[in-house]
Amino acid sequence: MDIREASGKDIPIILGLLYELGRPKPQKDSDIESFRKLIKKYITDSDKKIILAQLDDTEIIAMVSIIFLPRLNQNSLELYIPELIVRDKFQNQGVGKKLINSCISIGKEKKCHRIRLESGNQRKESHKFYKKLGFEQSGLSFTKNLN
Ligand SMILES: CC(C)(COP(=O)(O)OP(=O)(O)OC[C@H]1O[C@@H](n2cnc3c(N)ncnc32)[C@H](O)[C@@H]1OP(=O)(O)O)[C@@H](O)C(=O)NCCC(=O)NCCS
Repeated sequence: MDIREASGKDIPIILGLLYELGRPKPQKDSDIESFRKLIKKYITDSDKKIILAQLDDTEIIAMVSIIFLPRLNQNSLELYIPELIVRDKFQNQGVGKKLINSCISIGKEKKCHRIRLESGNQRKESHKFYKKLGFEQSGLSFTKNLN
């Protein structure tokens, strides 16, 4: 299995993986175009990354997205993970752990002070996964919908 950074040609597969995570599907053609542009920007911006796990020449089986965030009280960046998805049939085979290990290496290279992520209350299994990998539950997450 190859772990590599995403490029423009991976955009359709990244969109598919996001739907698997339950993210909203595009309602109209213009949505697809704007989602594509958002992913392209994500790939090209220097403060963001998308890392993919690829099984062979064609099959992408997992992805993790990363944002490097400055904090007001830290001289180093925080590595924030907005999305981590392993395709259903490849779960529980060590793929998620490989992607998190890749995040840890990237974070250390960038001299980040920590990794942070949020996981929905309903994702009980992923909470066990994060705890197994040494993450601590350090706070509650609050959201207010503005739509
Ligand atoms: C959560 C997710 C990313 C985990 O990836 P994965 O490839 O299935 O997990 P891995 O096989 O790499 O597991 C790594 C370790 O965590 C443990 N683990 C994984 N799921 C677990 C669970 N539900 N309970 C206990 N331990 C678990 C594994 O046993 C393994 O332990 P080991 O290192 O001792 O072998 C993946 O299942 C997934 O994409 N789920 C759906 C989307 C999702 O919930 N994403 C997270 C959003 S916050």
